[in-house]
Amino acid sequence: MENKPHFSIVFVVIISLTASMLCSNAQLEAKNPVTDVCLGCLCEATSGCNQTAICNYGACGLFRVTYAYWVDGGKLTLSNESPDLPEAFPNCVNDPYCAANTIQNYMARYKQDCNDDGEINCYDYAAIHRLGGYGCKGALPPRYYETLNS
Ligand SMILES: *[C@@H]1O[C@H](CO)[C@@H](O)[C@H](O)[C@H]1NC(C)=O
Repeated sequence: MENKPHFSIVFVVIISLTASMLCSNAQLEAKNPVTDVCLGCLCEATSGCNQTAICNYGACGLFRVTYAYWVDGGKLTLSNESPDLPEAFPNCVNDPYCAANTIQNYMARYKQDCNDDGEINCYDYAAIHRLGGYGCKGALPPRYYETLNS
């Protein structure tokens, strides 16, 4: 009888250790859901992979990331710049790596099966990238879809 509470404590500790290990593995996998090939397709379809640092109608860089997207993607910054500086957003998303990491964070948050084909792949990430985390089941511009496909 006296051993019983002791065993249940050990049991709980083992279960929570196992659970936290499983969770951190899943977190690692979930952290960068988009492959490099898919990132290449996204920039090709979005900007023709034009690396000119430029903002058009609030969308910047070779992935045409908007301010709201950057915020949802974790407000990443270049070289420890404060995210509160006005230039932090364009500086990050005009940089290919900072922009790609922003996309990874955004997709880790919003990834879903937009086209209901039973898997989450680059078509879904492309739809989320273009239409946002809450509108990705909508129709994509034909040229965007064609470039993505090729
Ligand atoms: C890249 O974009 C800039 C600015 O819009 C433009 O001047 C330039 O011609 C583009 N480069 C290519 C290779 O399309």
